[in-house]
Amino acid sequence: MKATALAHPNIALVKYWGKRDEALILPHQSSLSLTLSPLSVTTTVEFGVASDQVELNGHTAKGGERDRVLRLLESVRAQAKTALGPARMVSRGDFPMAAGLASSAAGFAALAVAARAAAGLPRDTRAESILARLGSGSACRSIEGGFCEWQRGERADGEDSFAVQRFAAGHWPDLRMVVAVVDRGEKDVKSRDGMKQTVDTSPYYPAWVKDAEAEVPVARELIARKDLQALGELCERNAWRMHAASLAANPPLCYLNAGTLGLIQHLREARKKGVPVWFTLDAGPNPVLLTDAAHEVAAEALARACGALDVIRCVPGGDATLTPEHLF
Ligand code: PMV
Repeated sequence: MKATALAHPNIALVKYWGKRDEALILPHQSSLSLTLSPLSVTTTVEFGVASDQVELNGHTAKGGERDRVLRLLESVRAQAKTALGPARMVSRGDFPMAAGLASSAAGFAALAVAARAAAGLPRDTRAESILARLGSGSACRSIEGGFCEWQRGERADGEDSFAVQRFAAGHWPDLRMVVAVVDRGEKDVKSRDGMKQTVDTSPYYPAWVKDAEAEVPVARELIARKDLQALGELCERNAWRMHAASLAANPPLCYLNAGTLGLIQHLREARKKGVPVWFTLDAGPNPVLLTDAAHEVAAEALARACGALDVIRCVPGGDATLTPEHLF
């Protein structure tokens, strides 16, 4: 009745931005991401305890955070063959304090894998991805390592909306992602609110959906060829288009700050000098730089020279796994 899983976060190369179903977390478009190592979240779940308890990084979870965890556990209870009873869940991330990366993707992926195992259900990446999606959309892309594609699906029940691995981490071991933390603060508008505001009010939203859907197979092809320059250019234009749709919302949403723009502008200069480095940007001010192993030190130096407070170098990460080392 107790199981522990470890999962890595992921960074989207083609972003997910906007839900067609808020309750089931079904996206308007497909997306594609890279799982990142060495960052990870470990989660232990035990069913059959006295009452539901949710602990995240040493704190008792409250409000929406707790509700999302309980909802996911409820879905596992519905699938289990026996009555499971209340659950205790403890989760711990090894992310540096302000990694600038959402730990929710790794957290809900680890929770989905641990909860199913604790319930006696067999490992099944599709079922785990669907379950993780109920916690946070991007989490469905952290069940498997390497490059994962979240296929939007068509069904109203979401059973065809899950992520599949296109290439394992070993396909492109030389690829590097360098997280440049230019701002350690909490973001003003959470992804879930920002994307809803964009869906509801941005006149550019339909164009975003059409474009992002079309970029997924292009990105897949560039990853197959390991074409860093073309993939870097695709990542940048996809990030710009997501932010363009958000800037056009009412009221407007601007996740970039002066530090973000300063760094982005320097990337152009670096490329002119022969450093292959491009950026992507989630719903926050901290760019993630895409480069290769030969240039990760140069990318870090560039980020620091442009005022990055912390820099975290990542490599392609592996699958979410079960581990015998429980947190309680
Ligand atoms: O899954 P959420 O609610 O954390 O939203 C993720 C949104 C982005 O990070 C901006 C894009 C993505 O695909 O991860």
